[in-house]
Amino acid sequence: MKTQVGIIGGGPSGLMLSQLLHLKGIDNVVLEKHSREYVLGRIRAGVLEHGFAELMREAQCGDRMDAEGEIHEGFYIAEGGEKRRVDLAGHTGGNSVVVYGQTELTRDLYEAREKMNGQVIHNVEDVKLHGLKSDAPHISYRSGDDIIRIDCDYVIGADGFHGVSRKSIPSDVLVEYEKVYPFGWLGVLSRTKPVSPELIYAKSDRGFALCSLRSQVLSRYYIQVPLTDTVEDWSDEAFWEELKARLPEDVAAELETGPSIEKSIAPLRSFVAEPMRYGNLFLAGDAAHIVPPTGARGLNSAASDIYYLYHALVAHYQDGDDSGLDGYSEKALARIWKAQRFSWWMTTLLHRFPDSIAYDQKLQQTDMDYLFSSEAALTSLAENYVGLPF
Ligand code: APR
Ligand code: PHB
Repeated sequence: MKTQVGIIGGGPSGLMLSQLLHLKGIDNVVLEKHSREYVLGRIRAGVLEHGFAELMREAQCGDRMDAEGEIHEGFYIAEGGEKRRVDLAGHTGGNSVVVYGQTELTRDLYEAREKMNGQVIHNVEDVKLHGLKSDAPHISYRSGDDIIRIDCDYVIGADGFHGVSRKSIPSDVLVEYEKVYPFGWLGVLSRTKPVSPELIYAKSDRGFALCSLRSQVLSRYYIQVPLTDTVEDWSDEAFWEELKARLPEDVAAELETGPSIEKSIAPLRSFVAEPMRYGNLFLAGDAAHIVPPTGARGLNSAASDIYYLYHALVAHYQDGDDSGLDGYSEKALARIWKAQRFSWWMTTLLHRFPDSIAYDQKLQQTDMDYLFSSEAALTSLAENYVGLPF
């Protein structure tokens, strides 16, 4: 098989790039390790920044997002029994975020790929990358007993944190920066009315909690838990009790509880791999970087990679201009690190750190007091939360 761009990974990054390139007449193939059902069974975050929503529209996949997604112009930070609003629109000249589940967004991208007869090959095994430093790289994979070869001009590694692409870069070239947090988030999805029309990020002595939503009948809640906890340790009742204990009393009193329809624990990690290009391999999304979910930056960090790669590949194929490809890694990393900084800051501001000393706790409290006493600090939070420009 031969194609122009071989894309490893059928998550949001790979599918979005595939769709955008196809619309510009650039031939590509997506190789996904799992079935479509498996990929769509994963519950992930649900806040999209303006730039990502625009990219969905450009990919001609924005109709359902625009119809069913909710525009949020602010969110709350709760602490010490009260909640205070962060006015995103007011601090960013009218900018906002779209609340729309990543699972739904991935479904829309799959449907769009299908409609255009885009090539997405599922259940591929043993994906291997070859000749990345040459002008003629190729990808191989196993399907049953057959080894299939795909020749391409460029390989895009959009295969997430555990994928094969990043690992194909020699260890003397790749530098990895990592910070692992000493806690995880236990998340529950429930068919209940969300406790608040806007998200509530809650700091409490018992640990962090988040009230989020997917729609007006579907709620998503999280609580910070020790890494040693398992889902089995948390009955629905225990979860709701603990969530209530971390929220201001008036919010807890309003909380509608019900059976969980999904419950999982995700560890919190910050991670960046540099460079994001090796020969004719380009990394994008979770394959190159991970953020803790606190600032809702995960998918949005992937968005800028896809945006830069898309424009760079179009410039290459349409105008023979390689400057975008040559500058990709540096440009992408500059924005990635800002998202890393913001996610780390918001995580540090709101969580209970088991080994923090009294001095750290004083600084954390001062950070919060400063935030709500300074228009400049609130503006900084707002501009990062809605997403820095691409
Ligand atoms: N070969 C082919 N596909 C692979 C391989 C492999 N060796 N390894 C992993 N994959 C697939 C995974 O099954 C997954 O569907 O690559 C896909 C990567 O998707 P994501 O992990 O969703 O990563 P990405 O598309 O970059 O999305 C980034 O989504 O999951 C969130 O936190 C993440 O919000 C961020 C955004
Ligand atoms: C979610 O709805 O899953 C969500 C929202 C905001 C975050 C993280 C997760 O910061």
